[in-house]
Amino acid sequence: MIVMGIESSCDETGVGIVEWNGTTRTCKQLADEVASSVDQHARFGGVVPEVASRAHLEAIVPTMRRALDAAGIAKPDALAVTIGPGLAGALLVGVAAAKAYAAAWDVPFYAVNHLGGHVAVDTLEHGPMPPCVALLVSGGHTHLLHVHDLAEPIVELGSTVDDAAGEAFDKVARLLGLGFPGGPALDVAAQEGNPKAIAFPRGMTGPRDGRYDFSFSGLKTAVARYVESKERAGEPLSIPDIAASFQEAVADVLTMKAVRAATDLGVDTLVLGGGATANSRIRSMAEERCADAGLTLRIPKPRLCTDNGVMIASLGAHLIAGGAQPSLLTVASDPGLSV
Ligand code: KG4
Ligand code: ZN
Repeated sequence: MIVMGIESSCDETGVGIVEWNGTTRTCKQLADEVASSVDQHARFGGVVPEVASRAHLEAIVPTMRRALDAAGIAKPDALAVTIGPGLAGALLVGVAAAKAYAAAWDVPFYAVNHLGGHVAVDTLEHGPMPPCVALLVSGGHTHLLHVHDLAEPIVELGSTVDDAAGEAFDKVARLLGLGFPGGPALDVAAQEGNPKAIAFPRGMTGPRDGRYDFSFSGLKTAVARYVESKERAGEPLSIPDIAASFQEAVADVLTMKAVRAATDLGVDTLVLGGGATANSRIRSMAEERCADAGLTLRIPKPRLCTDNGVMIASLGAHLIAGGAQPSLLTVASDPGLSV
């Protein structure tokens, strides 16, 4: 069974094609095409929904064509598409394309959840997924999930109550004059800094009401106040120290809660996903804390951590293999979809 996955929830138009192997219960990647509009958003300092939608519209058909060519097929056996969560106008483009092609090719169409895709994609590199806790961190989302089986509904353990972790990286990077998206530049600057230089606050460190939610706006404000106070006093600013101390605070709360959730639930695997898991300190701290807690850590390669179509194709394949029924062509995209 060959499945095409279409992703258009944010600023990446992704089309991936995978082949499901029922014996190993994993997928082989046949194509991974991504067109990103990230450069068009740089001057605005954040993703502009209308700009992203227009870019998807221009990119969707050429990206699908490139994926079919790369896989050497004329059409897949099934189509999966991100139905949510994401930007409303951006999602519409992928969903409309998937419906149109499913009808034209006469293949079944499956509407899937973007967040589950970030977990499913790890099976391409690391094999079948055992019950796990997944920590997803990107510019658009920060979620802690409990995945029992990829073909079954996923349980949300927590999410951010304000900014996404990647968004906090981008906003602080902007404050420090590091450009957009600033997460990678902040990571580089932090390499030269002292993570203990400034004691920035950690928001929502303990579980509350049975949830493992996150908050980053207080931390972001603390960085802004720190910069203002230094400037007012005419004191020099150490960008590397601020970057390293901020990064340490984000990595601390993310990994602390993820490991805590896995331990509380009695699962022995933690999966990371989303573009911000490229962060060197989030990775190293997750490695240290998983080793201490006796957890297996799984992180897809960077290319598959960011938004792409392979993750959607992979989740679609798992759902189909698990007996999921095709979605109706009348199904609507759902920007606020939870898991
Ligand atoms: O998953 P992704 O490519 O796109 C979406 O947000 O949907 O994630 C991009 C986010 C941006 O906020 C970017 O600044 C952040 O991930 N990011 C990083 C690093 N690399 C990417 N944040 C911190 N450190 C990094 N090395
Ligand atoms: Zn994502």
